[in-house]
Amino acid sequence: MLVLGIVLWLSSMVTQSCTSAIGPETLSDGELARHYNSRYSIFDEPYGIDFKYHNYEQMSRFLRATSLRFHNLTALYSIGKSFQGRNLWVMVVSSSPYEHMIGKPDVKYVANIHGNEAVGRELMLHLIHLLVTKYGSDPYITWLLDNTRIHILPSMNPDGFEVSKEGFCEGSQGRYNARGFDLNRNFPDYFKQNNKKTQLETEAVKEWVSKIQFVISGSLHGGALVASYPFDNTPNSLIKVFQSYSSTPSISPDDDVFRHLSLTYAQNHGSMYRGEACSPSQPGFKDGITNGAEWYPLTGGMQDFNYVWNGCMEITFELSCCKYPPAQDLPHYWEENRVSLIKFLAEAHRGVHGFVIDENGNAVERASVKVKGRDISFLTTKYGEFWRILLPGVYRLEVYASGYTPREVEFMVVEEHPTLLNVTLHGTKKWTQSDVWGHTTTERRHTAMSSPHLDHPVQEPVDTDSIVFPNS
Ligand SMILES: *[C@@H]1O[C@H](CO)[C@@H](O)[C@H](O)[C@H]1NC(C)=O
Ligand SMILES: *[C@@H]1O[C@H](CO)[C@@H](O)[C@H](O)[C@H]1NC(C)=O
Ligand SMILES: [Zn+2]
Repeated sequence: MLVLGIVLWLSSMVTQSCTSAIGPETLSDGELARHYNSRYSIFDEPYGIDFKYHNYEQMSRFLRATSLRFHNLTALYSIGKSFQGRNLWVMVVSSSPYEHMIGKPDVKYVANIHGNEAVGRELMLHLIHLLVTKYGSDPYITWLLDNTRIHILPSMNPDGFEVSKEGFCEGSQGRYNARGFDLNRNFPDYFKQNNKKTQLETEAVKEWVSKIQFVISGSLHGGALVASYPFDNTPNSLIKVFQSYSSTPSISPDDDVFRHLSLTYAQNHGSMYRGEACSPSQPGFKDGITNGAEWYPLTGGMQDFNYVWNGCMEITFELSCCKYPPAQDLPHYWEENRVSLIKFLAEAHRGVHGFVIDENGNAVERASVKVKGRDISFLTTKYGEFWRILLPGVYRLEVYASGYTPREVEFMVVEEHPTLLNVTLHGTKKWTQSDVWGHTTTERRHTAMSSPHLDHPVQEPVDTDSIVFPNS
């Protein structure tokens, strides 16, 4: 349904933007050529992206131009609007942009959550440009777009960006949304109750990630240079808030995977892996990575939410010591991040993936899947698909679904390619005494595990925002 919605919405968007000389997207190649030559068409301009900052209008124009010119490789949609009515544009780049490719992962980047952290926003436009122009000539990018659907939200906080100032390396002007809320403190929290009033931008992202099963995600920020991984919050930050930069880590069950993904970014980056401090008053980071809570705990962050609620491996990348550096520095940041941005997304192809099916080969939707010993469960899609990024090793997969006998399957992950694992579930049959016991137990476990928000350890709320933290 979402796919259909996007297509319908897209065609109405294209039609609306027809006040200029752009025709609807159903142009034949001959018509395209004519439009390319026609006087008022955006096809007159060579397709490119400058190293300058793009405000909302300019960014929207670039995205529209891209979607028209590369209509086979891109789809532009909006997940909602900001408080001031700006679209939260998402550009899909893939060889199959309009629909999910069954068995192939959806991945995403979200940038400019803090409106004054501007580098990631611009890098996303350059990444889009790189992907669409290199498809077909660069084998790695061709492979990536043929096997992955990449969703890019260049600005989650377009209102904040509009009031931010180029050259301002610190401070918080433009950080918040137009109603003064920090969007990276606005999500449901695994450890603590989040009492912040939910914002339109946050709701849009929550709905988006509930409809598409993203496998991996990068959240792009500025004000430091580090890859920071879950958990961002901790059950005991009350004790820790008085020690700056020396909190204890809040280790997730997938710590090995998160460290690996963070290192993939840092080691492919021009300087992040060195872990140098941005200033004498800021910490350095060994190998350019850190556990989020170990740096400083926060409540309501987006990455813990992605991981716990949606089984999506999200990492926060701090891309620049200066939050909004002069535009002349943008080529430097692009060079530093170009390879990392691509290699990180390709990590979606590591680990195990497959389908949960019934005895007749039909997909089992919303089966609860868990890697044994990693107490975070995730659900199959409506096609019965699941993905889990794992390092090489032997694992066991636990699968539960209402009405089926639970199964545990052993599998192996190797370095070179992902493991394909199909799990067949058998419907529960006659109700013997032991079946009733087994069934009841399974039901209860299934319910508890598929709803982390129902049984997570809520403690008394601690407002970590009232303490002064580095604010990146
Ligand atoms: C788009 O894809 C279709 C189907 O693969 C192909 O026939 C067509 O030539 C492509 N158009 C462009 C402009 O690449
Ligand atoms: C796994 O299941 C999917 C979906 O039912 C099917 O397309 C695929 O061929 C199966 N693969 C194997 C190796 O069984
Ligand atoms: Zn930030």
